[in-house]
Amino acid sequence: MTVRTELTQPYSDQKPGTSGLRKQVPIFQKIHYLENFIQSIFDSLEGCQGQTLVVGGDGRYFNRPAIQTILKMAAANGIGRVLVGQSGILSTPAVSCIIRKYKAFGGIVLSASHNPGGPQGDFGVKYNIGNGGPAPEKVTDAIYDRSKVIDQYQILDNEDIDLDQLGTVQLGSMTVEVVDSVADYTELMESLFDFGKIKQLLSSGKFRMCMDSMHAVTGPYAHEMFEGRLGAPAGTVINGKPLEDFGGGHPDPNLVYAHELVEIAFGDDAVDFGAASDGDGDRNMILGKKFFVTPSDSLAVMAANAHLIPGYKDGLAGVARSMPTSQAVDRVAEKLGLDCYETPTGWKFFGNLLDADKATLCGEESFGTSSNHIREKDGLWAVLFWLNIVAERQQSVEEIVTDHWKTYGQNYYSRHDYEGVASDKANTLMDNLRSALPSMPGKKLKSYTVEYADDFSYTDPVDGSTSAKQGIRIGFTDGSRIVFRLSGTGTQGATVRVYIESYEADASKHGVDPQEALGELVAIANQVAQIRSLTGMDKPTVIT
Ligand code: G6P
Ligand code: ZN
Repeated sequence: MTVRTELTQPYSDQKPGTSGLRKQVPIFQKIHYLENFIQSIFDSLEGCQGQTLVVGGDGRYFNRPAIQTILKMAAANGIGRVLVGQSGILSTPAVSCIIRKYKAFGGIVLSASHNPGGPQGDFGVKYNIGNGGPAPEKVTDAIYDRSKVIDQYQILDNEDIDLDQLGTVQLGSMTVEVVDSVADYTELMESLFDFGKIKQLLSSGKFRMCMDSMHAVTGPYAHEMFEGRLGAPAGTVINGKPLEDFGGGHPDPNLVYAHELVEIAFGDDAVDFGAASDGDGDRNMILGKKFFVTPSDSLAVMAANAHLIPGYKDGLAGVARSMPTSQAVDRVAEKLGLDCYETPTGWKFFGNLLDADKATLCGEESFGTSSNHIREKDGLWAVLFWLNIVAERQQSVEEIVTDHWKTYGQNYYSRHDYEGVASDKANTLMDNLRSALPSMPGKKLKSYTVEYADDFSYTDPVDGSTSAKQGIRIGFTDGSRIVFRLSGTGTQGATVRVYIESYEADASKHGVDPQEALGELVAIANQVAQIRSLTGMDKPTVIT
């Protein structure tokens, strides 16, 4: 077995985005494209020789060949041991769990999360550090810098290994352990939640649940957990077989893309509880019977009820949300006397807060919630958290949320996405807003008055690092907000995201359709950003 050095030329487009390097599969298949990026990772990691790495992906097209390449390159670069999920499968939260449990040096996650897969779909590579979380910007910047000048990579000349067979094999001087994809993660979940109580609920015959794995990575985990250990009837998990193209679907758990679940939870014979997760298993959507829980409300309800859950019964150190996430959790934090942090979009910004024990629960409007049990967001964890709350409170999801609004008020919230906008148009939209910021405070827009207008900048309270230009915020005197950002996770053109929020304390005004409740703010957003004239679109492509 020999280590081969291949000469290569740099690509200029390997800058990791919000969540690693994401490109369409044909781009990853360009000559040396994947290899360049992987070598750039190894070149940027000081002290990785002889260490353990975790490798796995969401099973999408190109997962297996990419893993074989990565293993051979890891061996050639002096990595000591790799733990790889059976058949190449590991959900993103499972990678985080395994890195932490086995004190690995880091991990490589292969996924484009909720983006469609298949030969013409998307693929992605993300590096996670030893705390189990996404690499911070100083690491991803170093990888990018390296990718711009790379001229060679190392790879072991070797046969592919059998990824389907559990056990240990040697690859040169490196050990590869093919590990059970589900076991460590399930064990961690059992340590946090009251499985006995959830089992009573799910096996009672009186409570029906549907979990939509969207033909993505959580299928095996969900079958094992809900139907295996928690006694839910077979058939509770739908679309539970991971497919390379996710069955042609878009594995993003929202009301638009998880339509099969939505039909089941909102149909005539609606189930009591519905949930879905995304391509790599870190996102979640929670539904009650004919009832949608916004991700921002979900975080707030979790924070308010955490004391009911065994893993969190001693209380929370604090909570954190991304800037565009609604301020519902802030109200819970205030009442419970907890610190509440506001970070830029991107799970990586929670890592330091969790490591420093400043926050226990974190969440984002983009259907992500998790805690300090790992350093990624965690779809099935959120589902179990909700089931545990329902089992404790013996109330429906809708009752739990409407009770919550009575106590804390309701933060009406909606996100409007304009997808596939030409990048120059999207940049003009943001630049125009940016230049208008200084003139905005004090301005009256319809019945609202602007209190502040800025471009969000974050200073990490742990390491002092700053991240500027994280989204335009227009705050009104009554606490309402409009936020504008460009997505950092798309692969084609630009996506303009508009986040709209208002607050309603009066319970008699709760439960109105958010599009109605937020109508005036939506009109203001269109007016100040000139969305229609700049994008040529008269309505959003997706509303969540
Ligand atoms: C990924 C990240 C999240 C982020 C989301 C939306 O899921 O892990 O942290 O909130 O993408 O990002 P975007 O830049 O597309 O709004
Ligand atoms: Zn994801």
